[in-house]
Amino acid sequence: MPSAVMPTPDRDAAASAAVSATGLRKSYGDKTVLDGIDLHIPAGTVFALLGPNGAGKTTAVKILSTLIGADGGQASVAGHDLAASPQSVRAAIGVTGQFSAVDGLITGEENMLLMADLHRLPRREGRRVTAELLARFDLTDAAKKPASTYSGGMKRRLDIAMTLVGNPRIIFLDEPTTGLDPRSRHNMWGIIRDLVTGGVTVFLTTQYLEEADELADRIAVLNNGRIAAEGTAAELKRMIPGGHVRLRFTDPAAYRSAATVLNEATRDDEALALQIPSDGSQRELRSVLDWLDSAGIAADELTVHTPDLDDVFFALTGSTDRTTATTVPHQPKEAVR
Ligand SMILES: Nc1ncnc2c1ncn2[C@@H]1O[C@H](COP(=O)(O)OP(=O)(O)OP(=O)(O)O)[C@@H](O)[C@H]1O
Ligand SMILES: [Mg+2]
Repeated sequence: MPSAVMPTPDRDAAASAAVSATGLRKSYGDKTVLDGIDLHIPAGTVFALLGPNGAGKTTAVKILSTLIGADGGQASVAGHDLAASPQSVRAAIGVTGQFSAVDGLITGEENMLLMADLHRLPRREGRRVTAELLARFDLTDAAKKPASTYSGGMKRRLDIAMTLVGNPRIIFLDEPTTGLDPRSRHNMWGIIRDLVTGGVTVFLTTQYLEEADELADRIAVLNNGRIAAEGTAAELKRMIPGGHVRLRFTDPAAYRSAATVLNEATRDDEALALQIPSDGSQRELRSVLDWLDSAGIAADELTVHTPDLDDVFFALTGSTDRTTATTVPHQPKEAVR
């Protein structure tokens, strides 16, 4: 039977999973970058892959988008097996790389038309799609200017517009907002949300924990070649300790009295601040305030900190930027208790 009419056994899986991978491996020389990665991304959702520099995020994106081969494991994207049907995978996906694919020497419009040609769209259709996408990404006014004159945010929007020319059902965005100012980042989030509303599945990598928190249905943290944790933002936050109430004093005597009363607090003698482990609930907050009241002590500042994704990231990836401990964030180095 010619291969063109052979049934594709993996087609049924497309309905539920946009991306599914088991045991993906990749090494460069004797450096293992991916050491057995499993992924399951339902269609129509946003998945964020987090990890420190060099963790293998771009490598994962390149493998899943058929740009490079894996050394081991199995994956299907849009229901097509990566190894057996790379052409079918390519037809279903769009990829916006970490580094811009925009050609600065030609105009934004010409970049778009080039993509339309690559997708073999008829000329008239290519022009229609180009005009529509340029308008959607607020680039119509700049369409006839060389892309080298675009700001970083405009280039990024053009990059994504180019990715959408082929009307992909799954898009890979490798650090879509790196280098963008807060306004451009929020615009990009809006664009990504619109894509998802339109039924597109988004696989994104990011260095911004807030971004994953805002956008992603599920988040995986990549560390040392493996998925260190996977879940919703809320699930990940629940995995680690770090919630606390922080009391700051200006009067050293009040600080010392409070430290005596709240003897489970972690002291920061330099800042005259105390940190009391707390889940941030009203009940726990009230008991802290009751202690202070009964001892006749008034703090000058009270802040409640619940773990955020940054805490998760630092705890799971063992980064030393925020804390010396890998499992208990927010313990100041000079903690004496
Ligand atoms: N072509 C290659 N040859 C050799 N080593 C490579 C190659 N591509 C990537 N690596 C190595 O693989 C590791 C993972 O790289 P990768 O680009 O996937 O990381 P990343 O998580 O995307 O990092 P970043 O956040 O900096 O973009 C790094 O140590 C990198 O040096
Ligand atoms: Mg990368």
